[in-house]
Amino acid sequence: MREFLIAPSLLSADFARLADEVRDVSAAGADWLHLDVMDNHYVPNLTVGPLVCSAIRPYTTMPFDVHLMTMPVDPLVAGFAEAGANSISFHPEASLHVHRTIELIKSHGVRAGLALNPSTPLAVLDHVMDLLDVVLVMSVNPGFGGQAFIGQTLDKLRLLRERVDTTMQRTGRPLLIEVDGGVNASNIARIAAAGADVFVAGSAVFGAPDRKQAIGRLHDELDTVAQSAGVAAL
Ligand code: DX5
Ligand code: ZN
Repeated sequence: MREFLIAPSLLSADFARLADEVRDVSAAGADWLHLDVMDNHYVPNLTVGPLVCSAIRPYTTMPFDVHLMTMPVDPLVAGFAEAGANSISFHPEASLHVHRTIELIKSHGVRAGLALNPSTPLAVLDHVMDLLDVVLVMSVNPGFGGQAFIGQTLDKLRLLRERVDTTMQRTGRPLLIEVDGGVNASNIARIAAAGADVFVAGSAVFGAPDRKQAIGRLHDELDTVAQSAGVAAL
């Protein structure tokens, strides 16, 4: 049974009140907290490091879903693992040795994910799919919140859904499809129907005055997909 999870992206939170913001979305029913780490090298923006991750860790029991938009990747893995990351996703273009970086993340007891940019082909998964816990499908070009969802992501998702189902049948291990960028109440049902399990929502949640209502609306949309597809929407 597939389950649907909502992962608000911290990038759209009020950075002057991060602890309150984390508590707010946690109480509002969010499932994961998505931490966008940007280094102003791999992407043209600069955000947070392990220090902020450990600072907000005590304020929620939600899993921390760290998205590294950094190059290189390896030097940051231990710091985020020690700071309380539950999963770390990175961009294959940002690591010279993708298999080794995945193994490094897993060696810290943290779930490993690959983040695929809109132009990155599914072929990058060919020889590491069995190692992964998450495939993070970018539906915007990385670097900023509040961008529009790139429609052709839906075709990529449908192809990926087939590959993930085949992989899970072979390995018996869970493998989640997460979509990141421009997700909101008007498109989340189509994204779920195309095969996504986890939905990053930055501006759609943190940008809303009432986060509980915003997350509730996303789940209402997901319930329509769950009922028709026979999946359990959380
Ligand atoms: C973009 C980030 C996304 C972004 C999502 O590089 O990876 O997580 O913050 O924000 P929204 O949901 O507003 O597109
Ligand atoms: Zn992200």
